Amino acid sequence: MTLPRLAAEDIALHEAAIDFLNDAELGPAAPDRLAQVRYEIATTGTYRHTYDELTLGALIAWRNSARCIGRLHWRSLRVLDRRDCTTAEEVAQACVEHIRFSANGGKLRPAITLFAPQRPDGERIRIWNPQLIRYAGVRMPDGGVVGDPMNVEITDLAIRLGWRPKGGRFDVLPLVIQMPGEGPRLFELPQDAVDEVDIAHPDLPWLADLGLRWHVLPAISDMSLDMGGLRYTAAPFSGWYMTTEIGARNFGDEARYDLLPEIATRMGLDTSSSRNLWKDRALIELCVAVAHSFRSAGMRIVDHHQASKQFVRHVQREREAGRGTPADWSWIVPPVSSSTTEAFHRYYDAPDSGRGPQLVHQDGPPVGGCPVSH
Ligand code: ARG
Repeated sequence: MTLPRLAAEDIALHEAAIDFLNDAELGPAAPDRLAQVRYEIATTGTYRHTYDELTLGALIAWRNSARCIGRLHWRSLRVLDRRDCTTAEEVAQACVEHIRFSANGGKLRPAITLFAPQRPDGERIRIWNPQLIRYAGVRMPDGGVVGDPMNVEITDLAIRLGWRPKGGRFDVLPLVIQMPGEGPRLFELPQDAVDEVDIAHPDLPWLADLGLRWHVLPAISDMSLDMGGLRYTAAPFSGWYMTTEIGARNFGDEARYDLLPEIATRMGLDTSSSRNLWKDRALIELCVAVAHSFRSAGMRIVDHHQASKQFVRHVQREREAGRGTPADWSWIVPPVSSSTTEAFHRYYDAPDSGRGPQLVHQDGPPVGGCPVSH
């Protein structure tokens, strides 16, 4: 069979595809498969991954994620192939199924759902929410924010599309989904799909009165899985939380819920000077409360000591397999008690940008005006 000529604009895609298919981990690419991919690209401007290619690519993309401390578990990632979804309703429904599958009643399972990749004409599916489950952050006239200040942009977009804020600090946002050639649309998550934990402290009974809660599933939904020259622009993935993500960063950061002054004051600490380490003490108690509450509710969570140990084990295993572990020290090292964890006391291979399947950042939700596509 003589192969059709590739158009100039398809050469880069073809090269990336061949690179990916020849990757030793997939096994040597069969000549038939290479010919088929070349034919598909020449005639349609794109090609379709087999389920095995999709799965292994997604696993490798996780393994390549230089900021993730949880990579010991990369082989256990479940890949949900939802390239069949053609409407926003179907994508929303598949996101709900993803949440239920991955949350799994508290026995969380790492999973990624892949929707159809970006088309040759640039049209793509986008989930504008940074995560499938996020709390609204509503701007107030006085410049303050009710809820999570990290999410004001997606909340603004939801409001522009007709969503009514409910006024609480922990109101789950609707999904904002945009299909090729269409405008963005809203989909509320069914309440029973979203597991949340009320936060209480084992020895500080007043902490439960603050009404703090957090969702069980961290499911990042705004990154693109790029592999073999294709971009899966809608590819939500999830695992389980590490305690400090919630207790230290989400609750403690000044640009987030900013709870340290209140916690310290309730603990009876003097907050007028940093010298008594009131912030540090409040931070630890918040993390204790998060760990305790998740465990009592039967929801899987990992503390930073165990996660660091597992990560160092992962690095060793990878070395035994003849691979390096790209890692970004400033992201891997936990934000609390860093020097007590193994991950702190060493350096890592520099992230090698652009080689192999990668999870990459994309532009955020459009500000102002209502986007129609892209
Ligand atoms: N830090 C983010 C959050 O607090 C979640 C990032 C992903 N974390 C994870 N354990 N998979 O929501």
